[in-house]
Amino acid sequence: MKAVRFDHYGDIDVLDLEDAEPRPLGPHDVLVQVHAAGINPGEAKIRSGALHERFPATFPSGQGSDLAGTVAEAGPAVTEWTVGDPVLGWSEERSSHAEYVTVPADQLVRKPDALPWTSAGALYVAGTTAWAAVAAVDPQAGETVVVAGATGGVGSLAVQLLRLRRANVFAVASPRHRDWLESQGATLVDYGSGSDVAERLRQAVETDGSRVQAFLDFHGGDYPRAALALGVPPTRINTLDYAAAAALGTRSDGNAQGTSQSVLTELAELAATGRIEVPISGTYPLAEVRQAFAQLEQEHPLGKIVLLPGAVPALDRS
Ligand SMILES: NC(=O)c1ccc[n+]([C@@H]2O[C@H](COP(=O)([O-])OP(=O)(O)OC[C@H]3O[C@@H](n4cnc5c(N)ncnc54)[C@H](OP(=O)(O)O)[C@@H]3O)[C@@H](O)[C@H]2O)c1
Repeated sequence: MKAVRFDHYGDIDVLDLEDAEPRPLGPHDVLVQVHAAGINPGEAKIRSGALHERFPATFPSGQGSDLAGTVAEAGPAVTEWTVGDPVLGWSEERSSHAEYVTVPADQLVRKPDALPWTSAGALYVAGTTAWAAVAAVDPQAGETVVVAGATGGVGSLAVQLLRLRRANVFAVASPRHRDWLESQGATLVDYGSGSDVAERLRQAVETDGSRVQAFLDFHGGDYPRAALALGVPPTRINTLDYAAAAALGTRSDGNAQGTSQSVLTELAELAATGRIEVPISGTYPLAEVRQAFAQLEQEHPLGKIVLLPGAVPALDRS
């Protein structure tokens, strides 16, 4: 099979498509033929070496956590999956950007028929992270919640999970995505227009006759401090900037806290029934993995970018 590999840290040009073997099947493992696999900024940071202290790479390294595909083989102790089952799930071995991937059977859930492969393959990292961040601040109906980084892979799902809880959402993003945010019932606050974003948030929320009660930060930088300056208690601020969270005493729940079969099943059902949308800004064959990461790292796309390693089953390419 073909799989994405890199053998030293660097820019997108260290990514190659190479001949490889999936990890041998253990008794509790499943071999999945991958139809769709999302890409994530964390993978770019690992590839560049920026996360070397926390998440070092060993070379040659594969990459990829998100996956959706068809069960190709099941280990002898696997009872819940049979060949041909449509699944989505995750790899913890940086290995899903490949034509086939071996994963433990309990890292898969059934793909609902109505869920497109591209959405299924995009759901794991961003969806579980958004789910955990929302759960961490436990928004109540009618509360005002700010989301910074609101139109990325994680933010776009968090905005919708907040709206399902009937929160009043102020979305910090670029105006390119205004229409999409308004279609979700969120209010855009432009992060790029000059004056202090915390002050603009304060004005926007006050104009609405409200105050900020919880804050989800998916960007980092000044946002955790801005949330405190807006009077949000640390227990109702969630940031993915671990250093800021430790320094300021905020929450920092993400993918690790959201990862479970039950959360992924819930997200898949929400997406399959149209209660959340998984925005997809680009799809690429595996051989164009460099172009996929170039779009992710340079363009600030709305939602997700997905690799399509093999032939996506007919009639379901959306
Ligand atoms: N700890 C965890 O468990 C975990 C899990 C997943 C992701 N993450 C991290 O969380 C972050 C977001 O992930 P993602 O997948 O959503 O990334 P993404 O798809 O690349 O989205 C990032 C978003 O940040 C926005 N942005 C850029 N500059 C901004 C600014 N100054 N203020 C506010 N927003 C700004 C961009 O929005 P515009 O389009 O509006 O410019 C972009 O859509 C990344 O740093 C990622 O590594 C952590």
